[in-house]
Amino acid sequence: MIPVLTIDGPSGAGKGTVAKAVAVALGWHLLDSGALYRLTALAGIDRQYDLTDAELMAECASSLAVQFLVRDDALVIYLDGLDVTQRVRSEEAGMGASTVGALPSVRAALLDRQRTFRTAPGLVADGRDMGTVVFPDAQIKVFLTASPEARALRRQKQLIQMGESVSLPRLLEDIRVRDLRDSERAASPLKAADDAIMLDSTQMSIEQVVAAVLGAVETRS
Ligand code: DC
Repeated sequence: MIPVLTIDGPSGAGKGTVAKAVAVALGWHLLDSGALYRLTALAGIDRQYDLTDAELMAECASSLAVQFLVRDDALVIYLDGLDVTQRVRSEEAGMGASTVGALPSVRAALLDRQRTFRTAPGLVADGRDMGTVVFPDAQIKVFLTASPEARALRRQKQLIQMGESVSLPRLLEDIRVRDLRDSERAASPLKAADDAIMLDSTQMSIEQVVAAVLGAVETRS
């Protein structure tokens, strides 16, 4: 059985950065499932679809023409032949992803695509339902959280680095809206798997979180 390590949690808890560092350290593949939801939302926006239309958005999800390429050690993402690397990380894509992620038809359309990432020697998968729905048999499950304030501050730093400026109160509000929608939706809501290791990164550096996750992998294996 190909090993899987799942990292679930709310937006801004540091899942993406931690998942990437852990995947590099273990030499395993990486699934950024949020990117698939973000790309589905962007495809819908570009086609001027209503993002709450279950049928149209499921069609977007199952027909996503996406390429993930590594160029100069950085990940480059193409959607329908266009470079969307920057756009995928925008607030527009994040909010849109949360909207389309609430649709069971979209989640079903993305399920098999996500499972194909499980290839040898192993997979680190980050998202909201990796340990509960997509890979319920994962050997190691981590649920990573942080206070909404800490997550808003981190997000603001990221956006400043990308040349975008959004006020802290606005980011905090976005985080609250997204947390609520992600955890209260009926389809695969954001919640920790019963067998998940809980980590609160509010007072931890990325390096400390990575070390804690790698420590858990060592203990379990
Ligand atoms: O992890 P992220 O911020 O890139 O995710 C963006 C949105 O996508 C998130 O608010 C909810 C949705 N999502 C989801 O519903 N299920 C996942 N496995 C990953 C993301």
